[in-house]
Amino acid sequence: METVEMICELFIGGEWVREASTGRTFEVENPANGETLATLPDAGEEEAKKAIDAAAKAQPAWARKTAQERAAIMREAVRLMHEKREHLARVMTLEQGKPLLESRGEIAYAASFLEWFAEEGKRVYGRTVPASSPEKRILVIKRPVGVTAAITPWNFPSAMITRKLGPALAAGCAMVIKPSELTPLSALELARIFQEAGLPEGVLSVVCGSDPVPITRAIMEDRRVRKLSFTGSTEVGKLLMKQAADTMKRLSLELGGHAPFIVFEDADIEAAVEGALASKMRNMGQTCVCANRIFVQRDIAEEFSRRLTERVAAMKIGNGLEEGVTVGPLIEPAAVEKVERHVEDAREKGARVVLGGERVENGKGNFYAPTVLLDVDDTMLVAREETFGPVAAIMPFDTEEEVIRRANDTVYGLAAYYYTRDVGRVIRLAEGLEYGIIGANDGMPSTAQAPFGGLKESGFGREGGSEGIEEYLDVKYLSLGGVGEPS
Ligand code: SIN
Repeated sequence: METVEMICELFIGGEWVREASTGRTFEVENPANGETLATLPDAGEEEAKKAIDAAAKAQPAWARKTAQERAAIMREAVRLMHEKREHLARVMTLEQGKPLLESRGEIAYAASFLEWFAEEGKRVYGRTVPASSPEKRILVIKRPVGVTAAITPWNFPSAMITRKLGPALAAGCAMVIKPSELTPLSALELARIFQEAGLPEGVLSVVCGSDPVPITRAIMEDRRVRKLSFTGSTEVGKLLMKQAADTMKRLSLELGGHAPFIVFEDADIEAAVEGALASKMRNMGQTCVCANRIFVQRDIAEEFSRRLTERVAAMKIGNGLEEGVTVGPLIEPAAVEKVERHVEDAREKGARVVLGGERVENGKGNFYAPTVLLDVDDTMLVAREETFGPVAAIMPFDTEEEVIRRANDTVYGLAAYYYTRDVGRVIRLAEGLEYGIIGANDGMPSTAQAPFGGLKESGFGREGGSEGIEEYLDVKYLSLGGVGEPS
């Protein structure tokens, strides 16, 4: 078995911590075989408080640095990420399961957020506003919000951190990160990289624990934490929103999705198949933006389904570290059970399973076969809830009006996709679909330069783009009197 060095300590206030105040430890498992990869100190409320204390102490000096000084440290972190890419990718595949090729891609994606925001930090412009009196001048200025926190998910263990940490650091904010207990090792690798890059003590802490409740409570109750960014379920997002009310914390919430992927009869079918495959099967379907409902116009439904099924059938399932594997394990047994429940429900209600439709027994790994379902209708669980698994659910439709209505018939509003060659329709759908991210003839719209985020119960706040840094800045204005005539 290959040995990959893992960090087995917490990173709090610039120190590596071997023992937690709880006296407990927790294990990180490889979802491909159930083996223990690492045993970590199990942090609780006390570690979170220490991390917040350290952040509050480090905050003023970090905010005083120039954007160029902050950018230099961030750029060095980017350089180190590229230099250590292979190691970081292996740690990620081991703890998260995604194929190595995807992990390498995620490291580059994660670094791109740091690179982008290192530059955006230099463009935190204010404004001057004409005053209503000749005696006055009005200046609008932007300041870092202060100490921030991030609660990050397991599906992108590195990129969902840098997408928050990048703008926070660039804006001049310290950050306490609580990564998913399922994938803390990639977060600790990032902490080491920032330490090596010269980030001052306390500006970043990574607090890992098996129970999110005490750590989250410490973060939510502390008035010094002025902003929280969370990526995860809508259910937890709503809870955090209620908790944030007591201290009026600013929030960015990137929550669940239920993306429609619409293929019109005038589409380039080959491009649509490739787009659907990329959107649906990336990370074994465990993304908030992945195609959950694939609507295909009736006349081309058969051809599209046949071509997509051929492409899915060619995918290789296995341990993500193995050569040629394109579908890894799901994150945990409960994830496999959820996919099973959705597929069974669809089967019972009349959907046809043309590929897959069952778990794959492979030792203690959490594997589910890439699956294609035909004749899915709006009543089935796959069409109502996030599946978060490798299941392509194909649903026929007849008209543009009908598909817009059905696509919008959900509480979610994160990402939507469509394929068409009709320019008017491209615009009509961009305006008519109630989603924050729209991929028109594009199955992979995520990028550091664009403002990623949702509508409705998919949350609010934007990550990436020039909008991303605004989430970490307070707007103030200065009204300056006595500047009319010289005395
Ligand atoms: C997510 O699934 O939350 C993020 C996916 C992405 O950045 O494309």
